[in-house]
Amino acid sequence: MADGLFLYEVKAHALRLVSAGDVRALTGRQPFVKDPPVNLIYVADLAKMTRAAPEEKEVHAATHAGSISQNVYLFCASEGLATVVRASIDRPALAKAMGLRPGQQITPAQTVGYPKK
Ligand SMILES: Cc1cc2nc3c(=O)[nH]c(=O)nc-3n(C[C@H](O)[C@H](O)[C@H](O)COP(=O)(O)O)c2cc1C
Repeated sequence: MADGLFLYEVKAHALRLVSAGDVRALTGRQPFVKDPPVNLIYVADLAKMTRAAPEEKEVHAATHAGSISQNVYLFCASEGLATVVRASIDRPALAKAMGLRPGQQITPAQTVGYPKK
């Protein structure tokens, strides 16, 4: 968001500030991504998948990201918001800006905003 990068803490169902900088422009290769209020960035922590075989990890990561993004689509449809899931991302640049560890893999990103009038 404009006021910073936040981590969604599942157990607390809360957003924790990671850094106060505006990284929206880095969340996709398309210029529009810098403008909408929210860009969600889905990150798979492959190191946490201790029981998955190496070849399964990316499948699980992509499947989870697809499920989450579809739920965001449903929420946006119910609230009259606009959304688009996006895979075109400069992942090394965004990972650097986010301070990700090796093994934390950016899957898609998803923009949420207001429909054009
Ligand atoms: C996994 C996935 C990745 C996508 N990545 C992009 C992307 O990087 N940029 C983009 O413009 N559309 C991307 N799309 C397509 C958009 O999400 C969307 O379906 C398309 O823009 C049509 O949207 P509309 O029906 O609202 O016009 C992607 C779709 C999927 C399912």
